[in-house]
Amino acid sequence: MINLFLIKPLKGFWIIGLILFLGACTSSTIVQKESNSRKQSFNQNWDFYLSDLKDEDSISDQTQWKSLDLPHDWSIETAFDKQSPVGHGGGYLTGGLGWYKKDFTVDKQDSSKRISIHFDGVYCNSEVWINGHYLGKRPNGYIGFEYDITPYLNFGQTNQILVKVDNSNQPNSRWYSGSGIYRNVWLKKTEKLYVVNWGTFITTPKVSKDQATVNVVTTIGNDNNEEKTAVLRTRVLKDGQEITQSEKEFLISSKANQELEQQLEINTPELWSDVSPELYTAISEILIEGNLIDQKKTNFGIRNFRFDLDKGFILNGVQTKIKGVCLHHDLGPLGAAVNTRAIERKLEIMKEMGVNGIRTAHNPPSPELLDLCDQMGFIVMDEAFDMWAHAKNPHDYATVWEQWHKKDLEDQILRDRNHPSVFMWSIGNEIPEQWSPEGAEIGRELSAIVKGLDTTRVVTAGMNPPIHVNNDEVTIQFEDTAAEPNALAGSGALDLIGYNYAHQTYEDHQKNFPNTPFIASETTSGLQTRGFYEFPSDTTKIWPVRWDLVFTQGNEDNTVSAFDQVRTPWGSLHEETWKIIKKHDFLSGMFVWTGFDYIGEPTPYQWPSRSSYFGIVDLAGFPKDVYYMYQSEWTDTPVLHVFPHWNWEEDTLVDLWVYYNNADEVELFLNGESLGVKSKEGDDLHLMWRVPYEKGTLKAVSRKDGKVVLEREVKTAGIASELSLTADRSTIYADGEDLSFITVGVMDENGVIVPRAADQISFTIDGPGKIVGVANGDPTNHESFKGQTHKAFNGKCLVVLQAGREKGNMVLTATAPGLKQSTINIQIK
Ligand code: GAL
Repeated sequence: MINLFLIKPLKGFWIIGLILFLGACTSSTIVQKESNSRKQSFNQNWDFYLSDLKDEDSISDQTQWKSLDLPHDWSIETAFDKQSPVGHGGGYLTGGLGWYKKDFTVDKQDSSKRISIHFDGVYCNSEVWINGHYLGKRPNGYIGFEYDITPYLNFGQTNQILVKVDNSNQPNSRWYSGSGIYRNVWLKKTEKLYVVNWGTFITTPKVSKDQATVNVVTTIGNDNNEEKTAVLRTRVLKDGQEITQSEKEFLISSKANQELEQQLEINTPELWSDVSPELYTAISEILIEGNLIDQKKTNFGIRNFRFDLDKGFILNGVQTKIKGVCLHHDLGPLGAAVNTRAIERKLEIMKEMGVNGIRTAHNPPSPELLDLCDQMGFIVMDEAFDMWAHAKNPHDYATVWEQWHKKDLEDQILRDRNHPSVFMWSIGNEIPEQWSPEGAEIGRELSAIVKGLDTTRVVTAGMNPPIHVNNDEVTIQFEDTAAEPNALAGSGALDLIGYNYAHQTYEDHQKNFPNTPFIASETTSGLQTRGFYEFPSDTTKIWPVRWDLVFTQGNEDNTVSAFDQVRTPWGSLHEETWKIIKKHDFLSGMFVWTGFDYIGEPTPYQWPSRSSYFGIVDLAGFPKDVYYMYQSEWTDTPVLHVFPHWNWEEDTLVDLWVYYNNADEVELFLNGESLGVKSKEGDDLHLMWRVPYEKGTLKAVSRKDGKVVLEREVKTAGIASELSLTADRSTIYADGEDLSFITVGVMDENGVIVPRAADQISFTIDGPGKIVGVANGDPTNHESFKGQTHKAFNGKCLVVLQAGREKGNMVLTATAPGLKQSTINIQIK
């Protein structure tokens, strides 16, 4: 049967790098990049030109070019423009066409080596030339690629690399993509007998408490003009100590690649999990007569898992609910330009909320994100595509699908298959053809591509939804599509049925798909503006009313109440979906749309809104209130969160919500008077009091067995009088990349945050660093993310400072008319 109603049909359409150079390359507390003579950062000293080059002369006419370091996203520097062809999906910023060039030398003494250039991702349609020789084109903006440049290099002389990036055909994405060489670039130097790119594949076919078998397949390339006899030695390290090794002699023909397989045993392995992300390192070494020819390190983890039809996700024998979020790749005010510390901060904020799963919506993520997920313990759904052959936007990936999907998917699997954090490959998100025989066929093809390279993980897809649901009345029609081979869900392509939304159907999953386990690949799509509240809070608003209708019922200032009371028609309130997922073991988990706000897709609004309302955390990284609902449910951290703020017109009937855990009851006091004691009943996830406003102090006290667990106060703020500055880290590294995120608060004279403050704040900096981003979480703000001034939004603003390469003290001063200024010192070491 063909579906009649879809809930929401198609809208508009590594590891740790090698730490041979520890000191020089630390850009965060956790991650060190692979940066040794084998793989060097190639990010510095590029020139950029935002336009097409008219002729060859414009390459050498230096006046047209601007010097910069990569990663670089030019779109984030553009102005918000209602007419921008990227539209609301891309957040009204601008794409375009740009050129990058870099002059560099490679020592004469390296002339016997193999030199390649590796791009982690260029958005999009990159074309690369070296010394005038064309290396190739890569349309996909999210996958890494590499070119062998050995034959075209002038050793000991200046070489020039030229990169054309064409993101001018718009729209080509449903979210903000960024434009340019927005991920890291590497220069790789090896001998001509070497481990090829993505040339190790480590699996752990047998895992028990007592022993693990580690299988290592290494692909070796020989670019020499003669055959070579050598030894492959694979050493396994744990915490820097070698625990086992294996050697294998091999003969490899000239100009050939060869795969070698080795098995190693590890006694009493330390297993990787989301709560204890234990990592091992495999060092692959090629030796000729005892001389080391190449050395490559690969991090891996030892774990086993399965998705069980009845018990959900089992990790190392432990039933584990996946409490996940979907994340787009942008880094708020930094745009798409990869920065390890910025990604780490995003993940830290998620971890603190109790998140243990990340879905990389809807594209292969940066290698840094996966390294961090390995190290921090996240269960990753690694997603490939947002569309297949049928477009969602006129100029999207569908236009090159036929020619590129096999290569792009293969490269993603080869790139990511050693990451212990990756458990699920998603071959697509809400694919237009998911309901048709074509969808079933492409699904089987893609699944076969994945399985050809990795059989240790499951294949899934985010389907909207896998069975038919009547949109408006939420009447569920259980048709036989579940087993329908002529649709993706029933095609046999998937090991895991991925539901996007349709929470009403989850409890019937075992009936509809008796043989395939469950994952909620995407849920919720609740909407909120941080710090803005509407009463009454216990009525649900469906915004927009229907996915395809123009939205007219909203607020004039494009705000959305931050009570968990507003949702999209295809989605649910936050509490709704979690209550169902929580209840049944067979529901292995969920990925909430979304952990963070992102640029673009400002549902339910359009212009002047330019970023999403879906985030549990806003674009600046400030949690909205519902963050604490999840934290109270997903962590053991004691939570007591009372909201909204306490600045209202006298006598306003104010709804007060409380999220709490680890306690039996909460008592609320207003100016010392008890407003009563309440406890969550049944499956309640919050408490509510309705109280006539009276200026003063609200106090909440949570108690367990009569003993106080936590106390929280919310006070009426007076008029704004000063600025406060708080840094997430007050010491950062002088590596030219590290960041300090400074929260600016607008406070009254008693240090109480002024909840609706919108003061214009200006920033100056002294010392070896710079301001690289400003944001406030307001989806309608049109100030530049790259300015030196920004308005506060609901009392807060964010400034991102970046270290230079000099040590010293960086001093940030924030000023605003009428307010006492504030300064903060950041040490750069
Ligand atoms: C989903 C889609 C996401 C995003 C979300 C907004 O259907 O997969 O990319 O558009 O809706 O609710």
